[in-house]
Parts: sequence; structure tokens; C-alpha cells
Amino acid sequence: MKYPKEYLDEIKNRLKVSTVVSKTVSLKKRGKEFVGLSPFKNEKTPSFTVNDEKEFYHCFATSEHGNIFDFVMKTQNLKFGEAVKFLAQLAGMQPYMFSKQDEEREKKWNEYKSIYSNYVDFYHNELLKNENYSIARDYLKNRSLGKDEVKKFKIGYIEKNPNYFEKLKKDHNEQTLVETGLFYFDEKNKIYVERFRGRLIFPINNISGQPIALGGRIIENLDYLAKYINSPETHFFKKGSNLYNLDLARKFSNKIDHIYLVEGYMDVVGLSKKGIDNAVANLGTSLTDKQISTLNQFFDDIIICFDGDESGYKAAVRAAENSIKELKPEKQISFLFLPDKEDPDSYVNKNGKANFIEFTKKTKLSIHQFIFVHYKKQTKNNPSSMAIFEKKLRGIANTIKDDFIKKYVLEYFLEKIAELTPHSNQNNKRFYSKKTKSLESTKKYFQESQSLTGVELKEFSLLYLVINKLDLLQANTHLIENIKLFTELNKKIFEMIVKKLKSDSQIKIQDLNLDDQLIEKINKFAPIKHILKNQSDDDQKIIELLEDISRDLMNYDLEFRIQELESKFSVDMSESTFDELKELKKKQNLN
Ligand code: UTP
Ligand code: MN
Repeated sequence: MKYPKEYLDEIKNRLKVSTVVSKTVSLKKRGKEFVGLSPFKNEKTPSFTVNDEKEFYHCFATSEHGNIFDFVMKTQNLKFGEAVKFLAQLAGMQPYMFSKQDEEREKKWNEYKSIYSNYVDFYHNELLKNENYSIARDYLKNRSLGKDEVKKFKIGYIEKNPNYFEKLKKDHNEQTLVETGLFYFDEKNKIYVERFRGRLIFPINNISGQPIALGGRIIENLDYLAKYINSPETHFFKKGSNLYNLDLARKFSNKIDHIYLVEGYMDVVGLSKKGIDNAVANLGTSLTDKQISTLNQFFDDIIICFDGDESGYKAAVRAAENSIKELKPEKQISFLFLPDKEDPDSYVNKNGKANFIEFTKKTKLSIHQFIFVHYKKQTKNNPSSMAIFEKKLRGIANTIKDDFIKKYVLEYFLEKIAELTPHSNQNNKRFYSKKTKSLESTKKYFQESQSLTGVELKEFSLLYLVINKLDLLQANTHLIENIKLFTELNKKIFEMIVKKLKSDSQIKIQDLNLDDQLIEKINKFAPIKHILKNQSDDDQKIIELLEDISRDLMNYDLEFRIQELESKFSVDMSESTFDELKELKKKQNLN
């Protein structure tokens, strides 16, 4: 039994080699390729490469070489058919069963394809060549679109009284033709009508580049006609599963990590004309989970850029609430808002590519930032409004499927809310709220400062212990040389002491030249002084105390770094930040 070539091609088109391989081999990007340790050989230096553009992997150690099917067969010890099943599932496709229905469907699909291909080719060539279609060509010229764009997107024009139906009828039955959505039966006049007559047509291709539906725009302003119409859903075209221009845009995913998601066909065409090819449009419907996950198979960062008007903004809110559910640790979704009355096409036409890219960098908002800002705008400074606000954000965070993302988005929301409600959230700031001061200003700082943070008190304990046990610690500098302090002044003093202790001569407290006020402060506040008084002769006890302090400081360090990373992660949502965070949390649990 043989799988149809189309089916296998679609699997290949939907899955990058690196996506498949990285499920079992950890890959690092190097130039255009990825490298990793060979799965075919035990090795320490990587000799295994993956090239998404050429759609193969190659192992220099063993000369193993092949496509995604070969890879899965060899690494999982599967037969070809099993590999196809496995990969089809990974690609989100239905399994191919070789049943009667599958064969039937295959036959229908081939006919559907051929009808669409012929139809699109025919009207595309008419637009390019037929002299009578100057009205369409003038329209395009008015919108400053030329032959290049028409060819690239295979745009066509269908005259007002076309008769292609008659031509197709010779090879296909009427029922089949109607099922393509290109034609419908006019009950009143008892004739078959071309749905897209009098319109410019934009072929909507599947991921392999095969046209499966059309979008059509009127070129004369007629109030009683919709500006755009799309093919109805058919056996082979489901709106929520397709995106306009995905077939061309995905080819850039080896070089570019982000994709613009825009509202209209013309936006995609206009951006492309200005050299921005990584753009797709959702087909006049709201964004679906399927579309997000399809885009994520190729691009790490989805930038949703809807029109700068009220309906564009509303669509963005809907898209944000819907797509945040699908957010994954290594992926990002952000939003770009254009100035009022602009859409991506008009903006890039006016301002050009460089400006658009700069504008993107400067103004795009991460999905969680956008959601926060949006609901904050609707919130008033009164308890009931604030309560609704917090509930809403908690509710949205709860819809996120990935547990880790859920946690950090919730954290982000709550932290931002805490900034709005400083009184009820003071204890959030218990760590290290005071910024470090320079040496020059320390005296003043000590006089003025009333309260000390937990970290500072620990540091004072450490300094107190060291100053009072110079002999013991000079004989055991290894116990203290790796301890990390936070407060700049304490850190400097501590480092100076450690350095002196490591010198040959015997150090007395006078040799340290410490500021009197500082010593006074340490003696006054170091919590350890009461304990040390009773244990001062027991070296073993003192070493234990020192170890306690050192472990506590290490935990502060971890906690502090975790906080830093958590806020970084809430902004960049990057995989590497996440991995670092995971490592630190593991360490924290061990201590
Ligand atoms: P817009 O009205 O924003 O179109 O519709 P546009 O891209 O700016 O088009 P131009 O510049 O006027 O040519 C955006 C998308 O919404 C759907 C279409 O998919 C369109 O591309 N739409 C719009 C419809 O389905 N029907 C309509 O009547 C209008
Ligand atoms: Mn427009």
C-alpha cells in the first residue's frame, strides 16, 4: 500500500526537521544549521547536523543521512508506515487509513485540486494578458501594485459575466463543481453562477502551496456588495485551520523567528511589496487555537498586528484572550498597535520597511502586558472595580494550559496589581528593598538608616563572627572565602578582611582599619552576638554557626536571582531564562 505523495508532502511541510529531531536530540543553532550529539553513536563532540532548508539531517560520524521519516524509523526502530503515523500525529493531521473512504476522499481531493489549479491559473493569466481587463489593472496600479506582486500571489480577475463553468463542465460533474464553492446554483434563474464574478481574486493555498479557496475583492464601490467574500467551507477548506500566505511565509522561518499576523489579504500583499515576507492573514474570522499552534510550528514569536481602529482593537482583545491559553514556555505572542485609521498595508506604504520594523521593536506588547493594560484601562480606583479587575486577570491566567506559564503570568498580574495597591502588599518587598550605597555616603547612610533588611542583619552576623574570631578564621580561610554578600559596603569590607586573613602575617582587629561607626553598628545589631557570647570558646560550634550563616546567605542569593529571573521571564518568556529558573529552583529545594 502506498501513501499518496500529497499526504507525505504535507507532513514534511508541516514539520521542520529540527522540530522532529529536537524531540530526541538536543540541538544548538549554528549558522543556518543545527548541531548536536549523534543519536547513532556515543560521542562527546557533536558531529550531527540538521538543515531545515534542505530538509535533511546528516551525521558526520556515521554518514547516516535522511529526512524526517528516515530519522524516526532509525531512532525509534519503526517501519515506514509506523513512522508516517507517528509524524502525522505530531503534525496534527488525521491518520491515513487506506480505507474505502480514504481512497474515495483521495480521488475527490485530486479532482478538487485540479479544478482550483485550473481556475486560479486561468484567471491569473487573464488578468496579466487580457486587454479587456484594464479596469482591474488600473485598480491595482492605483494601489501601487505591479506585476511582481500579481505573479507572486497569483492574483486574478474574474470578469462580470464569466463562463468558465461551461468549460469545466466538460470534465467534471455539476455537483463536484458546486462542492468546490467556486459556483452556486441560482434557484430563481436556474443557472450556475460564479461566486467571485467581478472581483479580484486572492488564492488561499494550503501549506504545500496548493490553492484550496479564494478571497475576492470588489474593485468598484458598490454598497450592496460585500467588499470581500471568501470561499465557503468545503471538504478541503476549513477557515479556522488555514492562514493566507502561510505557504510562502513559512519558508522564511529558517532565517526569521517571528511572523506578523494581520487582518487582510491586502496587508500581506502590501507588506511583501515592501520586503516584509513573514506575514500571514487570518481569513476574516477570529483567530483559532489551531492557527496559533500551526504558526508556532514554524515561528517562536507571533506578532499580531490588527488595524488601528476600534474593530481592530476589539479583535486584538479577543485574539489575546483566546491565544494566551496556548502560550508555551519557548514561544511568544505579542501585539502591535498601529496609529488610528492605519492598517499594515497603508502604514508600510507610507513609512517603509525600516520604519515598520523599528515601530514593531519599540511598541509591541507581550500578550500578558497587553491584557493587563487593557483591563487596567477599564478599572477605576475603587474597591469594587479593583476586585473585578483582579478576578478577571486571575480568570484569564487560569485558562492557560501550560502550568509553568500559568504560574508566571499569574505572578506578573499579581505583581502589577501589587504596584497599584502598595499598602496591602508591603511585605512583598521584604527582600533587599534598599539599593546599595557607595562608600562615600555610608556614614550618612548609617546615621540615617533606621531599619535593616534581613540580608543586612545576616551580613552583620557574619562580620561580627569574623571580627571576633580572627585567629580561628585565619587558620581556616576556606570556610569563608566563597561566601557571597549583597550590600555593597558589607561586601567590600568582607572581601578586604578575607584578603588580609589570607596574607602571611597574623592579623589583629586594629590591622583592619575599620570605621568606628561601622564596628559600633555591627556590635549593636548583629543578631549572633548573644549566641556567640556563650559559645565563644567552642571552635566546632563556631564553625557550625558560620556554616548556618553561609547557607542562609546562599539562599538569599538564590531567592534574589530567582526573583530577577521571574521578572525577566515574565517579559521575554524565553526558554533559556526558563531553564535557568528551573535550575535555581531545584538548587533552592536542595538547600
Ligand atoms: P479590511 O476591510 O480591513 O480590508 O478587511 P483591507 O485588507 O484593508 O482591504 P483593502 O485595503 O480595503 O482592500 C480585512 C479582512 O476582513 C475580511 C477579509 O478577509 C479582509 O481581508 N473581510 C472584510 C470580509 O471578509 N468581508 C468584508 O466585507 C470585509
Ligand atoms: Mn487596507
